Amino acid sequence: MARPLRLGVLTGGGDCPGLNALIRGLVRRGVYEFGHSFVGIENGYMGLVEPELVRPLGVEDTRGILPKGGTILGTSNKANPFAYPVREGTGWVDRDVSDQVLRRCQELRLDGLVAIGGDGTLSIASQLAAKGLKVVGCPKTIDNDLSGTDQTFGFDTARLIVTEALDRLHSTAESHDRVMVVEIMGRHAGFLTLDSGIAGGADLILIPEIPYRVTSLLDTLKRRATRRRSFSIIAISEGAYPEGGALSVLAEAADIPGRGVVRLGGSGKVCADLLASHIDAEIRVTVLGHLQRGGSPSAADRLLATRYGCKVLDLVRDGDWGHMVALRSNEIVSVPLSESRKERRVDPQGELVRFARSMGIGFGD
Ligand code: F6P
Repeated sequence: MARPLRLGVLTGGGDCPGLNALIRGLVRRGVYEFGHSFVGIENGYMGLVEPELVRPLGVEDTRGILPKGGTILGTSNKANPFAYPVREGTGWVDRDVSDQVLRRCQELRLDGLVAIGGDGTLSIASQLAAKGLKVVGCPKTIDNDLSGTDQTFGFDTARLIVTEALDRLHSTAESHDRVMVVEIMGRHAGFLTLDSGIAGGADLILIPEIPYRVTSLLDTLKRRATRRRSFSIIAISEGAYPEGGALSVLAEAADIPGRGVVRLGGSGKVCADLLASHIDAEIRVTVLGHLQRGGSPSAADRLLATRYGCKVLDLVRDGDWGHMVALRSNEIVSVPLSESRKERRVDPQGELVRFARSMGIGFGD
């Protein structure tokens, strides 16, 4: 039998439902079947840079966490060791502290590191693997935009939350004959909006992969306005934008130390403003925001996360460092971490979009 190992565990990037279920599966199988011990690293990679952010992680710590949202380890989406925000004078500068991270893993006597996160966390893991760190990854994100895996956990729960929100918004839309614009997360991918838009009965689905035209939206809205009940629900991705227009950005990358991404937001208002002078109906905008990431994971996400957590120990056993677990055709497999760098987008010609169109749902193109 292989020798028991000491493994570090961290969760990086935005929290999402299922992280605790994964930690539970990992620690329990790791302890019971392999005799491994675990070190919990807090606040993502920050825990490997700053002092006193590590603690033992045993089976006891995983009791009662299965239905809990968020992550018991805390997380950070700014702590990139290759561009780590350091205070200098009155401002921040990004420094490469990746060697420090490698040294810290040695100090902690880690035989390996399990990094749970989205594209950012996993591509950092891939870069650390290239520097010789023994690391395996687990993909998570409500955006479902990682090409290496058929599905990330967190997505199913977010989809349920958004679908329920669309159901609820129907009440006011229908009673007041209003146009309800609902802004949905997902960054530059429209999966969350597309799935929940269809499941929640949206009349227009606006996603980043299909830039919309105001004239097309008006055609759909005016067609609907001729009915006795003339309300409409527009499900719009935060990353959606009008043809020839720009992304709706809340904060530029430069304003976010250590983070090479912009913060999106405001697409719902942009869309509503573009429509306002052309229609008689009242328009209301709802931004679902972080409600979409909160609360208890769905059964499907608990299962997927648990499978990921258990499977990652096979990768460790097989010395599959530099790889991550992934769902492929309903099997959990091992794929190179570099796969996490490829982003996935909705195929505008794909089956789901075609079927949605065939049912009269507009995409604004
Ligand atoms: O990647 C997950 C996600 O929730 C995106 O859908 C969203 O754009 C982003 O994170 C929000 O990030 P933050 O929590 O930093 O505001």
